[in-house]
Amino acid sequence: MKITNIRTYTLHHDLDRPFQSSFSVFRARRHCLVEIETDAGFSGWGECLGPADINAAVVRSMAPMLMGRDPLDIEPIWLDVYNQFRDQGQRGVIHTALSGLDIALWDIAGKHHGAPVWQLMGGAWRREIPAYATGGFRPEGGDHASACAVEMAQYVAEGFGAVKIKIGYGIASDLRTIAAVREAIGPDTELMIDANHGYDAVDAIEIGRRAQGYDIAWFEEPVLPEALRAYRQVRDGQPIAVAGGETWHGRWAIDEALQQKAVQILQPDVCGVGGLSEARKIITLADIHQVRLVPHVWGTAVALAAGLHFHAILPPSPPSHEQRSPRLEFDRTHNPFRQAIVDQPIEHAGGVVRVPDGPGLGISVNREALMRFCVSS
Ligand code: NI
Ligand code: CA
Repeated sequence: MKITNIRTYTLHHDLDRPFQSSFSVFRARRHCLVEIETDAGFSGWGECLGPADINAAVVRSMAPMLMGRDPLDIEPIWLDVYNQFRDQGQRGVIHTALSGLDIALWDIAGKHHGAPVWQLMGGAWRREIPAYATGGFRPEGGDHASACAVEMAQYVAEGFGAVKIKIGYGIASDLRTIAAVREAIGPDTELMIDANHGYDAVDAIEIGRRAQGYDIAWFEEPVLPEALRAYRQVRDGQPIAVAGGETWHGRWAIDEALQQKAVQILQPDVCGVGGLSEARKIITLADIHQVRLVPHVWGTAVALAAGLHFHAILPPSPPSHEQRSPRLEFDRTHNPFRQAIVDQPIEHAGGVVRVPDGPGLGISVNREALMRFCVSS
């Protein structure tokens, strides 16, 4: 089998109601998909986390290195490509672009062998993943506390046992939001807070101490991702478990964060960390450091499928009778192409999502829908 072509697809949808994280405004949904074509009559699909147009450009500049090669040589291709870009590419879009290619290669391998990716990667520990609803951004021009409380109560009504809200809009405002959400979801739903690195260590520690009474399961990206010592201060200075890792790329970056004891909960994203191949290596690092691994997921059904296969192969740590299944991050914010681009949407039932069991990623891309949202290919 040979690789015959590599395509990128930039999908775009303008949002009628823009929303804010602590530092950015989402006015549109824009994501980059990767398709690797083969001479076997089928292709593989991947997705890149982060800026779609830059990812597409980097994927295209990597593409000549893959042309004509056997797509089953996944690890050799990964290392060859990374090695060519390593000098300027130890972090960032080299990894996010390579992630899309690597995931597409695993999809091809699965289709070739007639097996789901989780099986090729050593087998599944679980096939149904309890999910948590991600949302709770601040609407532009709206009141965060009331909007967030209404939104989270809806997710609980749909069956989600856990929800994550955005904070990072000022201490007083955040505490009002956290209180309103806890009141709205009741005592039995897990609640996580995500600052998208909107605080420095002093403010993050204050929020953590004052939010403790609302039973917060984790405090995500409290401070700048490069500032591992600040992470450590937050971890030491307040009682909520610190989570992070969606912007740490590759095994060396992850290892550095673990050596610095930056987080108690590690959140690599398969579409950013270097693909499924690199994600599998991160499992070993997290196991050695005994840090809980709860993957980050943000993107279309392709990213969701890749994330589900990663979830499936996460070994219980520690193995025990009452095993903890890491929760799947399930984005509930508006994105009409998230599920439309696949023939069988990856949906939840009562807050639980099944891992696809068809060959490869177990999805089939709907090209008509894909081209409807594609603004550049
Ligand atoms: Ni819309
Ligand atoms: Ca996050």
